[in-house]
Amino acid sequence: MRTILGIESSCDETAAAVVVDGRLVLSSLVASQHETHAPYGGVVPELAARAHVDRIDTLINDALVAADVKAHDLSAVAVTMGPGLAGALLVGMAAAKGLCVAADLPLVGVNHLEAHVFANVIDFDDFQPPAVVLLVSGGHTLLAHMREDYTFELLGETLDDAVGEAYDKIARFVGLGYPGGPLIDKLAAQGDPKALKFPRAMLRDGYDFSFSGLKTAVVARVKRAQASGEVIAAEDLAASFQQAVVDVLITKTMRAASDIAVKKIALAGGVAANSWLREQLTAVCVEKGFECFVPSLALCGDNAAMVTAAADRRVQRQDFDSLDLPANPSLSL
Ligand code: KG4
Ligand code: ZN
Repeated sequence: MRTILGIESSCDETAAAVVVDGRLVLSSLVASQHETHAPYGGVVPELAARAHVDRIDTLINDALVAADVKAHDLSAVAVTMGPGLAGALLVGMAAAKGLCVAADLPLVGVNHLEAHVFANVIDFDDFQPPAVVLLVSGGHTLLAHMREDYTFELLGETLDDAVGEAYDKIARFVGLGYPGGPLIDKLAAQGDPKALKFPRAMLRDGYDFSFSGLKTAVVARVKRAQASGEVIAAEDLAASFQQAVVDVLITKTMRAASDIAVKKIALAGGVAANSWLREQLTAVCVEKGFECFVPSLALCGDNAAMVTAAADRRVQRQDFDSLDLPANPSLSL
């Protein structure tokens, strides 16, 4: 039995979890910093690092207590080593290494992007690669081929804004608040997705994405309406923007799955919590005969359970990192 403590601090959530064999979640705690960053409309790196410092020790302790596990009974400590904010990552890495020294435990550094995908491993008994993975979050938007051996081949990624970033920037522009994704999701449910025409950038070109043009188009459309006195319902704006995003994400994901002849599609990342994306992707997969994996809401956003799941195979092989493992803010898949 492998009992792994996971630690996550790459962005604006401090998280700790205790998980057995990469799947059985004994505890999973997430302390969000949304209130800290909301006045600024986005994550302020210095504030994020400080908030992680304030919370991480208590959170780790609480996760162990909630799981009824003592530190010296752990098999390993898994920690997010990148990508993410440098200062924020260092807080989690330092906490993980400190615990490894204090309780004589091995360390596993985990790629945050891969960890998001492993939410599906926790949630589904029957999730096994090969699969095409659509990873959508505040910092990343990418399509990948998850091979049978659980390694990844990057197929495409955003050339500019991440999807979540586009949601957050538009929400800030229309004065909705931060983070904007869930707020736009809610508004869009009451709106008409065909009310306004927005571009579907690069729909037919390869597997890369571009969302900054869409963001600019939304902002320009609102300004034009304001100048002419036209009233646009916020619900219609949200729904039309969201439809443009979902159309592009789903079209490219389905094309990638057909091209590489993979029958499974897995969604991951903070934007995987989007209700319209979840519903539409599931519907298209059913229609076209693909198996669709959509993680539970608790495992979409940043959390530490997914970090332990991503580390489990390495713990099984006793493939550990040394305690001088550096954080890597620009680590890729
Ligand atoms: O994965 P995550 O927690 O952090 C990163 O690694 O980036 O993703 C956070 C992002 C934010 O941009 C947030 O607005 C977006 O996920 N998000 C959503 C929804 N819930 C969170 N976007 C659209 N619809 C949602 N329901
Ligand atoms: Zn994330």
